[in-house]
Amino acid sequence: MLIDSDQIRAMEKRQRAAFVNSLSGFKSANLVGTADRAGHTNLAIMSSVVHLGSDPPLLALIVRPGGEERHTLANILATGCYSLNHVTAALVEPAHQTAARYPADVSEFEATGLTPQYQQGFAAPLVAEASLKLGLELREHQQLAINGTHLVIGEVVLVDIPERALMADGAVDLTVAGTVAISGLDSYHDPRIIKRMAYAKPGLSPRSLEHQTADMAARGRYQRV
Ligand SMILES: Cc1cc2nc3c(=O)[nH]c(=O)nc-3n(C[C@H](O)[C@H](O)[C@H](O)COP(=O)(O)O)c2cc1C
Repeated sequence: MLIDSDQIRAMEKRQRAAFVNSLSGFKSANLVGTADRAGHTNLAIMSSVVHLGSDPPLLALIVRPGGEERHTLANILATGCYSLNHVTAALVEPAHQTAARYPADVSEFEATGLTPQYQQGFAAPLVAEASLKLGLELREHQQLAINGTHLVIGEVVLVDIPERALMADGAVDLTVAGTVAISGLDSYHDPRIIKRMAYAKPGLSPRSLEHQTADMAARGRYQRV
């Protein structure tokens, strides 16, 4: 089946949104925690987080257009900080509910029963129930000319991670952290590792790494370095 741009344009609005939102593959599931200058909290699920660089550690987030009605963006621009909290299977229902358009004076923390957690010296709330939580400081913001979406670039300044999810080579075993993946705008997946691959070099054929997940190490199947 081949679908061209005329057919994409001709799709009914919601159908096109569901279709195109599926095309970028599996995406990360994050709850973005913010507060306004007065400390009123806000929480929103967002899947468009991408890695931008490791030194300094930068993550980019795409926020839909919509001005002041976008509480997450307004809070990030006002306070310069926000948290990203990985969604686990147990959190899918409250996390998804944060997508509802609550008015500015209603906190999605209260509406969904999730608990704000504070780290000293960091103004944005983390999500206590999440297993992997990041604190970010805003470094750059641009509204993109092509469709008015906002590119928000933040530096990771805090990482709260279960120790057993941290592997010897520095990678994080997200299956141990229980992080889920998203496809489209409504499907939540429980991913598993198929294989870990060694650093690719010309002239060397692809080599898989010893499949030493942090979980296996924690259960004593492999020695933890
Ligand atoms: C699975 C899923 C993923 C989403 N990802 C994004 C995203 O990456 N960027 C965005 O701006 N909105 C995204 N949304 C929509 C926001 O969650 C929604 O607009 C929310 O009301 C924003 O809250 P706020 O106004 O408090 O910022 C997503 C919604 C769902 C259900």
